[in-house]
This record gives sequence, C-alpha cells and structure tokens, in this order.
Amino acid sequence: ISRASFPKGFVFGTASASYQYEGAVKEDGRGPTIWDTFSHSTGIILDGSNADVAVDEYHRYVEDIQLMKDLGMDAYRFSIAWSRIFPNGSGEINQAGVDHYNNLINALLAKGIEPYVTLYHWDLPQALEDKYIGWLDRQIIKDFALYAETCFEKFGDRVKHWITFNEPHSFSIQGYYTGLEAPGRCSTVLCPSGNSSTEPYIVAHNVLLSHAAVADIYRKNYKDKQNGSIGMSLDVKWYVPATNATENIEATQRAQDFQLGWFLDPLVFGDYPNSMRSRVGTRLPTFTESESALLKGSLDFVGINHYTTYYASENATNTIGDLLNDVVSDAGAHAIPFDKDGKPIGDMANSIWLYIVPYGMRSVTNYIKQKYGNPLVIITENGMDDPNSILIPIEDALKDEKRIKYHTDYLTNLLAAIKEDGCNVKGYFAWSLLDNWEWSAGYTSRFGLYFVDYNDNLKRYPKNSVKWFKNFLASA
Ligand code: GCO
Repeated sequence: ISRASFPKGFVFGTASASYQYEGAVKEDGRGPTIWDTFSHSTGIILDGSNADVAVDEYHRYVEDIQLMKDLGMDAYRFSIAWSRIFPNGSGEINQAGVDHYNNLINALLAKGIEPYVTLYHWDLPQALEDKYIGWLDRQIIKDFALYAETCFEKFGDRVKHWITFNEPHSFSIQGYYTGLEAPGRCSTVLCPSGNSSTEPYIVAHNVLLSHAAVADIYRKNYKDKQNGSIGMSLDVKWYVPATNATENIEATQRAQDFQLGWFLDPLVFGDYPNSMRSRVGTRLPTFTESESALLKGSLDFVGINHYTTYYASENATNTIGDLLNDVVSDAGAHAIPFDKDGKPIGDMANSIWLYIVPYGMRSVTNYIKQKYGNPLVIITENGMDDPNSILIPIEDALKDEKRIKYHTDYLTNLLAAIKEDGCNVKGYFAWSLLDNWEWSAGYTSRFGLYFVDYNDNLKRYPKNSVKWFKNFLASA
C-alpha cells in the first residue's frame, strides 16, 4: 500500500490543535482559555502538567513545516485559538493574533502545504465562560459567529477548508458530564453536583446552532468568492454487538445514535435521532422549523476522527467505556473493550481507551455511506500513542513499529472502503506530526510521528514511522 494506491488528488496530512501544540499562552495578547484554567487548577491532569509551553509550535512552526515538507505531506490541519483573535471572546480584535496565523498560513503555502483550519478545538476564551457559562448559553452563537466570520475575512482568501468544531461529542461529554475535561462541569453521580444529565445536551444544541449560523454566513458571503468548503470533525468509534442477542444489536445502534447520530443526524436530516428523543425526552432541546432547515445540509464535508472500536451491550456495568462515557448512560448501551472470555477487542495502545481494531475504519466509513447518502468524508484524525517514560531510552522510543502497523492497517481498510465499497473519502490526516500535550493525560502520551524531547529543549527526532510515511508518500 502506498499513496499510488489511492485515487488521484487524495490528500494526506497531519493534524494538531492550538492548546496541545502552541505554548506561548501569555504572548502577543492571547487571552486565557478554559483549558488554561482547567489545567492549572483542577488536579485532574495525570502528570500535573499544563500546556503553557507545549511543543512551542507558536515559535517553531517554520521548522515544523519543514518536517511536514520532508515527509511529503500535502496538508496540515491546525486550529486557531479564538482568544488570540479575540482575547475576551468578542469585542476588540487582537492584531498580533491575526498576524501570527497569517504568518503560519503563508509559511505553509510557501511550502505547498494546504491549510485545513479548525475554528474550535476546545480552547474557549475564559471571558465567555465567566460572562455567561460559555456553551451553556445561546449568547455564544452570536459571539462564535463574529469570531468565525472574522477568520473568513482575514484568512479565507487562502484557507479553503474550514472545520467549525472538533469533536463536539467529546467535549460535551467530558466537559459537562464526566468533568474530565474543561470546563470540568459534571452531572453524573460521580460528581458532587450529581443530577440527571442535561448540560451535555444543551451544549451540543448550542454548538449545532452555532455551526448552522456560521455555515450560513460562509455560504452566503464567502464560499463562492473564496471557493472553499465548510465541515465539522466528529469523533466516531465503531461499535459491534457484544453478542447476537437482539438487545445487544439494538444497544449497538443506540450507542452510535448517541455518538455520531447526535450530531450528524441534525446536520444531514435536520433533527436528532428518534432513539435520543424517546430516551432523553424533554432534556433534549428541540429545533424550531427554521433552525432545522438551516442545519439540514449545512456540511460540505464530514470530518471523521476515528481511533478505536468497542463492543456494545445493553446489560453490563462499570466498563471502562462507561467510565470514560463513550456512551451517555441515557443510551442504555455499555461500551466494552473485552469479549465474554475477557479477550480484548484489539491490542491496546498506551491510552486505556485506545484499542487497535483496523476494520473499524472500513465499517465506520461504510456506515456513513449507507446511512447518510455517501457524503464527502475526510478522515481528520487517526493515530495511536506510546507511553512517555524516562525509563524508555530515546533510541527505543523511536522504534515505533506498532505505529507503522497501525497506519498501514487502518489505511488498508480505508482503501478497501474507497475502492471496493465506493465510500466517498477524500483525505486522511494522521494524529499527529509531533508528540504533544494530550489533555487530561498531559505529557504521558506520545502520539507523534516525531518524538519530542521534553528534557532537552523540545528537540524533535524522527521515529521510524517518519521513514515509513515518507516512503509511502513518495511512491506516486
Ligand atoms: C481531538 C482529539 C485530539 C487528541 C487525539 C488523541 O479532540 O481531536 O482529542 O485532540 O489529542 O484524539 O487522543
């Protein structure tokens, strides 16, 4: 398998996010975000770290773009930090922030690398959290629209692919249900504030309405002029029934409804899945007719972040999947990484949620094709992590044969989905170019093709997967 096996024009890139990469959190007028607050105050980050420095992408992007170029990548997906453009979330534009992203975009284009830009990868300006509790309040729709439109105006002459949101399912659940991620609000019994969950649904609703508003603005005023497209990146696990029992087959469908359907149904069909409506009842907000019309068809492409696969079962308790709330308890579906004999569904990576199941890629893309009318799909993230340990010498950490196999196997399945099954997939982004700050896992997890030496000036070293990717991409 190599680039030559894929259709002509298929795009390969790597993906990143502002808070995980940039550092420089106090420079050039950047305002604080909910992730600065969360990482500095909650004690939830596994190694007690924060991303004040991260991998210093803010200063090293020129060097890192050269690494992308050496690899032969076509594209780079990164996110803009809202609080660099509007330090207070709205109001005055911070010109230094605009300059930074202009420089980054120009440096990419100078090397022939196409920017794919995420507008929101979780780092909400703290000012908006303080003002009206961020995504819980509808006021955010207008502030997000102002920020997004500012980005279209400033960067849209050169940016042709916009991703409004990254993984709204993830941040709705982890930020407002388990409390494991910013802003760390939780509504499960695990949390002191324990009550039945409403906040994730309100957050997701406001996110969807914000997307719809922004996609409408883009299509009316920018899309034709700038010749670009707009989408959203959704995290999608594949679920397989734990057994053939009807209840487990139904639970599997509900698990997918509560994860992918929660967002993709409104974006494609204009409303939430029936299974959500019937199980969540009045806690699930409703769309007016005009909101529903605005949402329906508001994606030019579907971004898919896919890493792993679980079994789904109606009856199970205290699974690791439940703990991390892959599935909201309302779904009546449990996510389990083991079969009935205790055998894992696939080899585990470093992250306890990441089991390696390559066929999941083919299944997910086929599911989207069948259920949603074969929309244009871009795989906006796929990858695996190794542990970060001072006990592992750098020479050994660079031998990441497991990662090479991961990408080979997932890409092989993606290719089959495209060539044999007719799935309309046009791009693939590896997570990630560099090791970086992995949210509540801090620096304990290494997802990069390049190793970053956190003990020696953040020096970058190519892992063996760099050689592999280079080879893969060189064969035209
Ligand atoms: C996302 C992801 C990334 C993670 C990656 C590995 O939100 O897109 O969470 O930011 O770093 O998925 O877990």
